Amino acid sequence: MLFTKTTSPLKGELTVPGDKSISHRAVMFGALSEGLTEITHFLPGADCLSTISCFEKMGIHIEQTNEKVLVHGKGLHGLTAPSGILDCGNSGTTTRLISGILAGQDFSCTLTGDASIQKRPMGRIIKPLTMMNGQIESLTGNDCAPLKIIGSSLKGIHYRSPVASAQVKSCVLLAGLYADAPTSVTEPALSRNHTELMLNHFGASVTTQETTAAVLPEPKLIGSSIQVPGDISSAAYFIAAALMIPGSEVLLKNVGINPTRDGFLRAALDMGADITFLNRATQGGEPTADLLVRYSRLHGTTVEGAMIPTLIDEIPILAVLAAAAEGTTAIRDAQELKVKESNRLDIMTKGLGNMGVDITATEDGMIIHGGTPLQGAVIDSHLDHRIAMSFAIASLTAEGETEITRAECVDISYPEFYRDLRRLAG
Ligand code: S3P
Repeated sequence: MLFTKTTSPLKGELTVPGDKSISHRAVMFGALSEGLTEITHFLPGADCLSTISCFEKMGIHIEQTNEKVLVHGKGLHGLTAPSGILDCGNSGTTTRLISGILAGQDFSCTLTGDASIQKRPMGRIIKPLTMMNGQIESLTGNDCAPLKIIGSSLKGIHYRSPVASAQVKSCVLLAGLYADAPTSVTEPALSRNHTELMLNHFGASVTTQETTAAVLPEPKLIGSSIQVPGDISSAAYFIAAALMIPGSEVLLKNVGINPTRDGFLRAALDMGADITFLNRATQGGEPTADLLVRYSRLHGTTVEGAMIPTLIDEIPILAVLAAAAEGTTAIRDAQELKVKESNRLDIMTKGLGNMGVDITATEDGMIIHGGTPLQGAVIDSHLDHRIAMSFAIASLTAEGETEITRAECVDISYPEFYRDLRRLAG
């Protein structure tokens, strides 16, 4: 797909699609609840459709209309053995969270996904699930999918996770629903807490103290209504574009601003961004706001430590923003980016370098000296949605043409991304 420099500022209002993490969890927890769960503003991206299809294969009736997704839950013990392999597509969230649920069932099954999923590390969930007495095996013997899971009687544990990962934490907490005693997870830094908030919304007992989350087993989960907030990870592309393109003013409506997810906003404000929070509200424990974003003169910043999990998916677009800012931006402690849908540190460094940015990869991040004008380049998305969207935004400020190959991979989290970009950027 070809992109050229925009000649006009970004103007207008946009409601970004529903949050991907919250959409996955609404389907999963709705399936494990008794009765109907009604989800509005569900994200119909390929990842969340993978979650729907896995639960349908385990006997859950799910209705999808333009306005709503209705999940007819069957309770904690209502899933049935799928007739074939569960296909998680490109979705790490589906793979890791479902594994926690499957470990405590009274049936066995195999799950896998696309080429990217088959390279992503699953040892991080195999280890705690095995400590819980779960039976989970990488069929290729390399700690990656395909995974065979034999449902077992699980025991409650306290797990000290070496990584700050909501997927690992959620996997262990979900297995903990089926355990014989309370289960808790301590992380090195707090990752997104949507599982904790939403499980409680459905009637479970989850408590949090600093970076430890604990769950009591065998709750009675009751179907509920979930209004999914706009995805801050999707909003981040338009926030960045509006901040970088002179004269821009964009209103992003109903965006999730959960403090475990808002690191991109904090980093942008620290860089000098003009962002106003309007109409603050809370939906199912999740804080939201409308964000009014205006073009700003930005300067470099440092992001590291406990901030990293709060903007983990926004680091590619943060790198684009840093390239437009005056001065140096340092991103540290972000080695997790190497094991996302692609090696995002490597791809962002090479791609922005090809566009003329003074950028250096480090062991755990990147150093960006911003302020140099960008030039168009040919960028391979590596079928990674966040890479494609980040370079589409970078191209709006680049001289000449930018070609993004396999750009349609935005379907994973934002099927209408190019339509919305065309509308706002003219
Ligand atoms: C997610 C957690 C994060 C994030 C991913 C979604 C989730 O992954 O990168 O896009 O929904 O729990 P990790 O847990 O691997 O950091």
